[in-house]
Amino acid sequence: MKLPSRDEAIKMMREAGCSEGVIRHCKSVTRVALRIAEKLKMRGYDLDLNLIEIGGLLHDLGRAKTHGVEHGAIGGQMARERGLPEPIARIIERHVGAGITPEEAKRLGLPDGDYIPRTLEEKVVAYADKLIEGEKEVDFEETLNRFIEELGEDHPAIERMRRLHREMMELLGETIKE
Ligand SMILES: [Fe+2]
Repeated sequence: MKLPSRDEAIKMMREAGCSEGVIRHCKSVTRVALRIAEKLKMRGYDLDLNLIEIGGLLHDLGRAKTHGVEHGAIGGQMARERGLPEPIARIIERHVGAGITPEEAKRLGLPDGDYIPRTLEEKVVAYADKLIEGEKEVDFEETLNRFIEELGEDHPAIERMRRLHREMMELLGETIKE
């Protein structure tokens, strides 16, 4: 799999029309994603750090076109149009919240596709994105509360986010503050 370099990925974001703020956000998410990935590696999990780095830098490519929930799906299409490898397109389209089920995707009018993060690389980028607000690191709970305010406690996306958080904490061997 031929991945762009870090500089090429950033250039691609800029040329697609992403704002400097979005690019800074993507760099912050990538920093956190790599930190998590290195910890997981030390715990014996096998994951592709280069894929996480370039996927992290490109994860909000779709924000060149829209900041709506569809920016993941659109970003995935943009990645494919640009000839980026499929694992990058999938990181991009699976990073929104803790993923979007087929039923919700349909309701949201997204093109048919699988919007649930499945590989470790996809999960790490989606999760790291929940630990960054703008460019600043926040607790997972802060992001969760933001989603609750927006979607309501009963929205299925909320339980999915809690599940991703629990899964990541478990993989990292960390205990959850409840
Ligand atoms: Fe995003």
